[in-house]
Amino acid sequence: MSERWTRDSWRKKPIVQVPQYPDKGELDAVEHKIESFPPLVFAGEARNLKTVLGRVATGEGFLLHGGDCAESFTDPSANNISANNIRDYLRLFLQMAVVLTYAAAMPVVKVGRIAGQFAKPRSSPTEKKNGQELPSYRGDIINGPEFTAAARTPDPARLIEAYRHSASTLNLLRALTHGGYASLGRVHQWMLDLDPRSKQRYLELADRISEALAFMQACGLDLESHPELKATDIYTSHEALLLGYEQAMTREDSTRPGTWCCTSAHMLWIGDRTRQPDHAHIEFCRGIMNPLGLKCGPTTKPDELLRLVEILNPQNEPGRLTLISRLGADKVGEQLPALVRAIKREGRVVVWSCDPMHGNTITATTGYKTRPFDLILKEVKSFFSVHAAEGTHAGGVHLEMTGQNVTECTGGAHAITDEGLNARYHTLCDPRLNAEQAIEMAFLLAELLKAERAARVRPLPVAAGL
Ligand code: PEP
Ligand code: CO
Repeated sequence: MSERWTRDSWRKKPIVQVPQYPDKGELDAVEHKIESFPPLVFAGEARNLKTVLGRVATGEGFLLHGGDCAESFTDPSANNISANNIRDYLRLFLQMAVVLTYAAAMPVVKVGRIAGQFAKPRSSPTEKKNGQELPSYRGDIINGPEFTAAARTPDPARLIEAYRHSASTLNLLRALTHGGYASLGRVHQWMLDLDPRSKQRYLELADRISEALAFMQACGLDLESHPELKATDIYTSHEALLLGYEQAMTREDSTRPGTWCCTSAHMLWIGDRTRQPDHAHIEFCRGIMNPLGLKCGPTTKPDELLRLVEILNPQNEPGRLTLISRLGADKVGEQLPALVRAIKREGRVVVWSCDPMHGNTITATTGYKTRPFDLILKEVKSFFSVHAAEGTHAGGVHLEMTGQNVTECTGGAHAITDEGLNARYHTLCDPRLNAEQAIEMAFLLAELLKAERAARVRPLPVAAGL
């Protein structure tokens, strides 16, 4: 690993999860063209994210990370134009963030799986249906979901489409978050169509926030002059999977020569299937300056994790690395403590985040790929218990979720059953939390964070005799 890193040094390493393009020359030409496109984010923004994540790592914040499993070029939730999708996602994310900020009384760092989450790792390179075998769908940046030979053939032109979709999504996100929509004065207007209990809980909280704002104003505080109350930052992220695209978006930071920023998103993560220490994905990611996520699945061993942390964050820079455990509700209590202890023993500064989605995927009796909401909540609770026992900070969550009223995960306020999944099952890949389930998750997280805070702020010992 001591060899010199370049934007393309990953090309000499073994690699898994690569699509087979019929025309490599066409792919090269497209990647070359993307190199001349404007960056989507700036290194300064990625540095800001690293700074705030650094605070999360030391216990002074919480990371809310979530969005689609796979974004789509053509909106799959029929009769919704994609602008509504983005706006509803943002409303939900803001609602969740406000629930968490209020309860935990600590800053919430918001990172979306959005504006570039187009490439998917697959457990099998092919899919069989009615006796026909075709390449698996690998995300819209690579091929199409329809089960035809034409759609499933990887097409380099899709890289340009992915750039265009990322740019327009990011543009709308920036407009909404900085154009007044995210102002705390609008906390009531982010309301989505929720079940009565969540609706009431959220409205009570929104009332309290409005009262607090009115109180501060009455005390003479000019709310207009506080940008923190009028706007918010939502950072973007996706899995660093299609390395040719990521390389083409990687640019030298003009203010710090020799520093390279992958400008396709603020944060990138390495998936559970592509984290082999001597392979291409780790090689590429070690050389970019962006904050990185690393998925830690059930096969992650403490020694291997330490090796990866050394490669990805040799300077032990706070905020550089977020370890995203995705162990499954039944394994987290057994496997997470050893990983947490190894990191603590070596003095590594990381954000610990919990992905309760990917370790809890099952096939429903009706054939759908689903995730029981109870197991998702259980993994999050166990994650907090492990950190409480180890004296470390449960720093964040990583969720697959949508602002749309889909039926993809079973359970929740509307007790979605295996049979009920059929009603609005729209995901292109993995099942997502719908808005109600996501808000229920936020209220659970709020309770867990409050408890963590209460345990940290220990009561003063009562003096003898008093
Ligand atoms: C994902 O986050 O969509 C994903 C594929 O996760 P993992 O790599 O943890 O399986
Ligand atoms: Co997924």
